[in-house]
Amino acid sequence: MTEFAERVQRVKPSFTLEMTSRAAELRAQGVDVINFSAGQPDFNTPENIREAAKTAMDNGETKYTAGSGTIELRQAVCTKLKRENQLEVSPERVLISNGEKQSLYLACQTLFQSGDEVLIFKPYWVSFPEFVTLSDATPILIDTDSKNNFEPDFENLKSKITDKVKGIIINSPSNPTGSVWSDEIIINLLGLAKENSWTVISDECYERLVFEGEFTSAQKLSDDHHIGANIITCMSMSKTYAMTGWRIGYAFGEKSIIKAMGKIQGQATSCANAIGQAASVEALIGDQSTVEMMIGKFRERRDLMVSLLNELPGITCDTPGGAFYAFPDFSAYIGKSFRGEKIDDSFVLSDVILNEAKVVTVPGDGFGAPGHIRFSYPLAKNVIREGILRVKKVLEQLN
Ligand SMILES: Cc1ncc(COP(=O)(O)O)c(C=O)c1O
Repeated sequence: MTEFAERVQRVKPSFTLEMTSRAAELRAQGVDVINFSAGQPDFNTPENIREAAKTAMDNGETKYTAGSGTIELRQAVCTKLKRENQLEVSPERVLISNGEKQSLYLACQTLFQSGDEVLIFKPYWVSFPEFVTLSDATPILIDTDSKNNFEPDFENLKSKITDKVKGIIINSPSNPTGSVWSDEIIINLLGLAKENSWTVISDECYERLVFEGEFTSAQKLSDDHHIGANIITCMSMSKTYAMTGWRIGYAFGEKSIIKAMGKIQGQATSCANAIGQAASVEALIGDQSTVEMMIGKFRERRDLMVSLLNELPGITCDTPGGAFYAFPDFSAYIGKSFRGEKIDDSFVLSDVILNEAKVVTVPGDGFGAPGHIRFSYPLAKNVIREGILRVKKVLEQLN
C-alpha cells in the first residue's frame, strides 16, 4: 500500500463538492432530486462572454499565457476595479488564477507557515481552514452569533490573539450565511490587523451579489479611512458572471506578495486557462446587463426562500444581505428522532432530508455552525417551493 504524505491525512475533503456529487449521482440514477447544495448560479454564462471565448479559440488564443495572466485581462480587472470598486490598481498588482480558490490557496501558501496562526470566523467557507492547514499554519476559529448578523465580537476576537497570529481571513458577503458585514465592523477589523501587523485575506467572491445598499471592498475602506492595512483581495468570475466551470479568479494587493504568489503558481499550474481569460475580458468590460438581471432574480428567489423557510414550524431564517445562500436555524429539530433514528446533529438531519425527500442541502456543522443547514437558492421558484414542501413533510415526521 502506498504511504501518503502526512498532509493528506491533515486535509479534509470538500464536503460541499461531495454533496453536489451525491446530487449528480442520484440524478443519474433517475431520482427526482432537488439540489439546494450547489454554490453556483443556474444560468448559463451570458452569450457575449461565450462568443468571446469562441472568437478567442478561432483566433488561436489557445496557447500558454503569461504566468500572471494576459495583460488584457489584468488591465480589464483594473478597469473593473475602478468602475465597480473605485480602486486604482495597476496590472502588476493583479494575479489571474484558475479560479479564486487558487488565488486564496496561493495567498495562504505565500504568507503562512508552520508555527503561524490564522484567524477565521465561524461559520466559515469549508476551504478556509484547509487552505491554512495546507500551508502548515494553524487555523484559529472564532465564534460569531447569528443574532449579530454573524459579525465578529471584538471582545471574543481579542481573547484569541497571540503573537503567533500572522493573518486573518474575512468573507463578506459570506458563504454559508449570506451575511454582509457592516463597513464599521470591517474598518475595526482592518485597524486591528494593522495594529498587529497581520495580513488580511479578503474573499470578495460575492461582492456583486449584494441586495441592499452598496458593497464596499475592504481595500477601499482601508484607503478611505487611511488605515494602511495589508490586504490581499480575492475576487472571482464564477458567481457574478455564471462562470463557475471556466475557472478564472484573481487577486490584487501589495506588489511583492502578488509576485510571490505568481512564483508558486508558475511552478504549480503555469497560468490560468487562456480561453477563459479571453472570455473574462469581455465579462469584465463588456455589457453588464445580464449581471443586473441575474441579481434581480436572485433577490426574488431569496425573498421566496426566506419566507418559505420561516413558515416551517420551529425554523428561523434571517434575511441574508448577499450571495445566494439561506442559512436557517434547525436546532429545534436536533435531538428529535426519525423512525427511531436519533437526529444528533445537522449531518444526520441533512441526510434524513436527502434520503426521505430527495432534497440535497448542506449541514451547518461542516461550516462550524451546528444546528444550521445551508440552502442555495439559485433555482426556479417552483423548484424552491417544491423543495421546501418536501422538507416540511419530513420535519412533520420527526418526534
Ligand atoms: C466563499 C468562496 N470563496 C471562493 C470560492 C471559489 O470561487 P472560484 O469558483 O472562483 O474558485 C467560492 C466558491 O464556492 C466561495 O464560496
